[in-house]
Parts: sequence; structure tokens; C-alpha cells
Amino acid sequence: MSLFQPAQLGAFKLRNRILMAPLGRARSDKELRIPLPRVATYYQQRASAGLIISEASHVSPYSVSRPGGSAIHTEAQAQGWKPVTAAVHAAGGLIVQQLFHLGRKAHPSRLPGHALPVAPSAIAAQGLAETAEGPQAFPVPRVLDISEIPGIVAEFQQAARYSKQAGFDGVEIHAANGYLIDQFLRDGTNQRTDDYGGSVENRARLLLEIVDAVLEVFGPDRLGVRLSPHFDLDGIQDSNPAALYSYVAEQLQARGIAYLHLIEPDSIPAERRLAPRLRELFQGALVLAGEFDQQRAQQALEQGRADFIAFGRLFIANPDLVERFRRQAPLNTPDTASFYIGEDQGYIDYPFLAPQRASA
Ligand SMILES: Cc1cc2nc3c(=O)[nH]c(=O)nc-3n(C[C@H](O)[C@H](O)[C@H](O)COP(=O)(O)O)c2cc1C
Repeated sequence: MSLFQPAQLGAFKLRNRILMAPLGRARSDKELRIPLPRVATYYQQRASAGLIISEASHVSPYSVSRPGGSAIHTEAQAQGWKPVTAAVHAAGGLIVQQLFHLGRKAHPSRLPGHALPVAPSAIAAQGLAETAEGPQAFPVPRVLDISEIPGIVAEFQQAARYSKQAGFDGVEIHAANGYLIDQFLRDGTNQRTDDYGGSVENRARLLLEIVDAVLEVFGPDRLGVRLSPHFDLDGIQDSNPAALYSYVAEQLQARGIAYLHLIEPDSIPAERRLAPRLRELFQGALVLAGEFDQQRAQQALEQGRADFIAFGRLFIANPDLVERFRRQAPLNTPDTASFYIGEDQGYIDYPFLAPQRASA
């Protein structure tokens, strides 16, 4: 199986198995959180990916990260995404929108009325939040009352409706990287004693309710879920990841969603890897992400460890990554300083390969 082989992914006919991973680049309007014209240019430049997964987009006004982070909880934001999806489609590409809620990873200084961020339990994230006054500790979050949980589910569903209105081909639920859904999934951050805490079934309830709500908007063949069992940067952890993620995979299989997107770099020791187990339990497509280069990606496909590979940083620096892989051409180096800050520079000015001349 080759990276360049076209393949079906749920409802989508992909031109290749090279996916663009979700990458928050903070290039939207700072107050309205609406994509600026350069966002359409950025994604159109990368439309040769088999499928683009958009940057994580906030589903709630109470989920606010750095200025320029994009959102999808107002009509104006839905309108603002239209030129982005149109630009990708005009270039023959496909784009799904990643939806997320920060939960405890928000900082009060950025939230309406300086509200505390919400979370399953009153456990602060380790590390520092970026604020206008510089890096500051994350606060102890406010515990979501059980009566508030339907509201969170409804925010994801409404966001999916806006995604559809904006012309996205589908959505990916962001249940990874220590954000709200991940905080519910793992027992290090979820110490609730109600229906949303304790057992694996209870901790997965929020995710599955969100999936079910979004399924009323997009069919299962247009829905993916992203998981990151190894992410622990902010102190998040789980006492039995194999049990937790096996249950999640079984439940997603029962719902027939298009794909499972697992962040599991090859550097994770074999005995801790979950992909083999999840692949047995989940018969939809498996997308792997994390530190892949062309060779490792090709190997993972050939060994049947994944169906698709998502590339993050390589797509930041190489809008024509697919073509560079095809020609085995040198890759541009990503400029980390402009990952999350800036305007056009380091965003839409990475050079493309010169067109290949027909041989004489
Ligand atoms: C600048 C930047 C922004 C990111 N934003 C997101 C995001 O919005 N959602 C997400 O799930 N992961 C996000 N990630 C993680 C990437 O999707 C990917 O999993 C990670 O970079 C590892 O893949 P790579 O080694 O191919 O870059 C981000 C990573 C970077 C470097």
C-alpha cells in the first residue's frame, strides 16, 4: 500500500493517504475569531493533501485560547469559514473541521467576565497559560455541574451545524491533547462520582454523547474522533489506558464512524502502543499521527498498522508536501517562532517546488 494510492475514507474519495493534521495557527480575527482571507490561502495551498483536518475550532465562547484562535459558535464565524472551504474545494481538496472545547486549559483573563474555566473536577492543569500579561499558572477550574453537561453537548452539535453551513465535508471531534473531552476520559483529571466519572463507561459518556449529537448533523461516514493516549504534558494521565481506549474504540465501532485518529508516534515503545489493539476493535479507517516522515509513514502503511498518516509540522513548512514526497525532494524547515503567532510570514510564504520540466 502506497502513500500515493487513492483510498476511500468514509464518504470521501481521497487522492492519497497523506492527511494534513489539525494545526492551530492563530491567524483568525483576534476579537471575532473569524478566519481572515489568508486562512483560505493557507488551506488552499495545502489542498493536495488527501484530506485536510482543520485547526481546532472552539465550540463555545467559554473556550478561548490565544488571540487569533478560530471558533465556530456564531453565525458570523460560520459565514467566515465559507471562503476557506470553497478555496479548498476549488483546488479539488477535502476539508473537515476539528471541534474542541479547552475545558481547564483556558485562562480566566481571556474568558467572558473573567470566568473560571470548566472541567470535570477541580484539578488545575500543570504548566503555564499564555495570557496578555505573560505566562501564568492555570487556575483550579470550576467543576461542571451535571446539569450543565447537556449544554456542552449542545454546543458541539450546534458547532457541527455551523460546520455544515460553512461547507465543511465533515467534522473531527477533538478528544485529545488534554482538552475538555480528554479531561473527562482520563481518571487523573476526572474524579467525579456521578454518571460522568468513575468507570470507563462513565468517563467516556461525554465523548459518546457528543458523537451521538453530532451524528444527527453529519452521518457517521463524515465523522472522525481524535485520541491521544500518550499525551501527558499538562499532567493529564490515566491509570489504565488500554481499558479506556479499548472501550472508546468499541463504542465508536458500534456507531460506524469513518475514522479513528490516533496520536501515537513510533517512538512509543511497542508494549505501550495501543494502535494494534484499537485496530482490532475498530473496523473503520485508522489514521496515525505523530513524528512521521515519509519513510516511517510508508512503513506503517505497508505493515498494515494504519490506513492513513496525518502530518503536522511538515505541512506547516511544505504546502506541496505530497509533491515533495512524490519527487523525493528536499523539505522546507518549519519556523517554530511563527507557529502560533504572526500574520502571513511563516504561514503562507513557504516556497513551493519549482514546476518539474518535461524531459526533452
Ligand atoms: C503549531 C501546532 C498546532 C497544533 N494544533 C493542533 C490542533 O489544533 N489540534 C490537534 O488535535 N492537534 C494540534 N497539533 C498537533 C498536531 O496535529 C500533531 O499531532 C503533532 O504536531 C505531531 O505530528 P507531527 O510530528 O507530524 O507534527 C498542533 C501541533 C502544532 C505544531
